[in-house]
Amino acid sequence: MASTAISSLGMLLWIFTFILLVSLVYINIIAVIRGGQLPKNVVNNGFASLLEQSKTTTAKGAAIATSLSSESNGGATYKANSQTIEGMEAEIEALRKTKAKLDTELRIGQMEEKIHSLNQEFQQWEGKFNNLYKSDTKPKQAPANSSPLLPPVGEKKQHKVDSKDLTGMNILLLYADDWTHHTLSSYHQTKPLNTILKTPILDALAADGIRFTHNCVTTSVCWISRATLYTGQYMSRHKTTKPCCWSGLPKTKGQLDYVPDNWSELSFYELLKENGYHVGHAGKWGIHLPFHKNLDFNVEDDGWHYRKIGKKLWHITEKNEADALRFLATRPKDKPFFLNVAFFATHAKDSDIRQYMPQESSMEWYKDDTIPVPPTATQEAWEKMPYFFTNENEGRTRWGVRYSNYTLHQTMMKNYYRMATEVDAACGAILEELRRQDALNNTVIIFTTDNGNFHSEHGLADKWYPHQESIRVPLIIHDPRMADSVKGTTNDEFTLNIDLAPTILRAAGIPAPDKMHGRDMSELYLSPDRTDWRKEFFYEHPVINTKRYVPASEALVRKDYKYMYWPDYKYEQLFDLKVDPGEINDLFQSTNPEHKQQLDYMRERFNELKHLVKSDEVVTL
Ligand SMILES: *[C@@H]1O[C@H](CO)[C@@H](O)[C@H](O)[C@H]1NC(C)=O
Ligand SMILES: *[C@@H]1O[C@H](CO)[C@@H](O)[C@H](O)[C@H]1NC(C)=O
Ligand SMILES: *[C@@H]1O[C@H](CO)[C@@H](O)[C@H](O)[C@H]1NC(C)=O
Repeated sequence: MASTAISSLGMLLWIFTFILLVSLVYINIIAVIRGGQLPKNVVNNGFASLLEQSKTTTAKGAAIATSLSSESNGGATYKANSQTIEGMEAEIEALRKTKAKLDTELRIGQMEEKIHSLNQEFQQWEGKFNNLYKSDTKPKQAPANSSPLLPPVGEKKQHKVDSKDLTGMNILLLYADDWTHHTLSSYHQTKPLNTILKTPILDALAADGIRFTHNCVTTSVCWISRATLYTGQYMSRHKTTKPCCWSGLPKTKGQLDYVPDNWSELSFYELLKENGYHVGHAGKWGIHLPFHKNLDFNVEDDGWHYRKIGKKLWHITEKNEADALRFLATRPKDKPFFLNVAFFATHAKDSDIRQYMPQESSMEWYKDDTIPVPPTATQEAWEKMPYFFTNENEGRTRWGVRYSNYTLHQTMMKNYYRMATEVDAACGAILEELRRQDALNNTVIIFTTDNGNFHSEHGLADKWYPHQESIRVPLIIHDPRMADSVKGTTNDEFTLNIDLAPTILRAAGIPAPDKMHGRDMSELYLSPDRTDWRKEFFYEHPVINTKRYVPASEALVRKDYKYMYWPDYKYEQLFDLKVDPGEINDLFQSTNPEHKQQLDYMRERFNELKHLVKSDEVVTL
């Protein structure tokens, strides 16, 4: 039995290598990137033409593309191999089960004990759940003076939708990790976001879709932002406040503060599945939730940059891409699909002093570039952070590892950019496969990320806090229903990560459950006359470990002003973003009447929204 397993693994490895060859299709895309400029025709014709054109950019690219698209040659082999992979995986799974059975028999005594204690824990959660969600108190009315944008949303919705309401559209989520608002070149726009970084595929996607310029997360950290993605809820409602990010661990319910008894009311994955979707996830989950049990395709990779799988040393972005291509190649063609390609890049490998480890083949990129140091990356800006930001603050510790001198900053940023461009190229290969399947005209494509990142602004690294660098992140939507007049435009409304689940569900024709806080963003590009969108939002982040390590933070975010509140220290700040976009000069003590008046308004609105976010009310925020 052991030798069967070994030879199966050998075969599997061989086949994975073949799939990797498929990913070489983007070599030609890389050629475009190396050229250093986004080709002019992308600007004019959108990304479909870029993909088409990329096939002819190099002779090698053309040869690969031709052999792949030929049914009699690579294409057929590729498909057959994909099926073989499924078969072999089933075999491996069966072997695993046999082994698990033997192990179980050996450990049955221990397991019984464990089950007993889990049951006890479960009862405690149930108690908590009952208190939280089964109270029969009526939903409170929104405060009388709150914005008219917060209407309670009427009665309970059905999850199983009448099939005539389903759109049958596919949904592809390209979900990056730790990308800031400026981790996109957007070369197709008059004023690019970033003149060093190259993301030609995502630029082309935006040129043919819509880019949201004020997209933010309601909590800037991976596991909470992801729980928000899955549930369309603020942290205060989904309550996934504990870090539990790493792969390989069992996804126990014990990592949650409470256990909801009906997952289908929470996760849009479940709702899509329930309504006939072929549902897949490739990459980082970031949280311990049992959603994955009901998926059709689920490969988890998280926390590593390089890993030996079989005899091949994989880079995680290559692996994410290969898994996404495998999902697309093997999906049943008679069902709509949802796929989240949850890239781990550009997340640092925290435990490794090198932090960012791009692929060998991308080390040439950005070699001769100079990455600008942000204007707020100064000692003065660090000293202006609240008094409780000391060297014990994790943002400062990571700054020490990444950005504490110029050479280090250049090295880290170049490697971060390389990893971002690798993700861009992987997106190219995935989009190319969709194009090959003639599915681009029936697929909503969303590109976004879980949170932003300080790249030495304020003397900090990473995320957590309510500053622009940490909360404002890219969002591109490419939707075949868009009018031509919308394509290539930007939208400046505050879109939020709570909006992703409702948007994805509505694209499928499924109403968002009442417990979701967010809004369907397609209203912003399918009905362009619409004007009533949120003008401000509440931000929240829990303390991590200790208040000296990562203090809790809250904020009311507007485009003109930002109010921050640090609950562990009862410390308030006010920033005038019109004159101080870097959020350096705290106006909390200002005697200027305009600032005082603004502070009063901000506090009041902050408390109103905070109350709504933390309540059980059925509310769209
Ligand atoms: C859970 O949700 C499903 C789908 O909406 C529903 O059919 C079922 O009755 C719910 N179960 C409970 C216990 O609420
Ligand atoms: C920059 O920091 C790194 C890491 O602490 C250190 O190894 C290196 O010598 C420093 N370089 C300069 C020029 O100070
Ligand atoms: C998409 O395009 C393909 C090929 O051009 C066509 O066969 C198909 O009907 C189109 N689908 C939709 C939904 O427009």
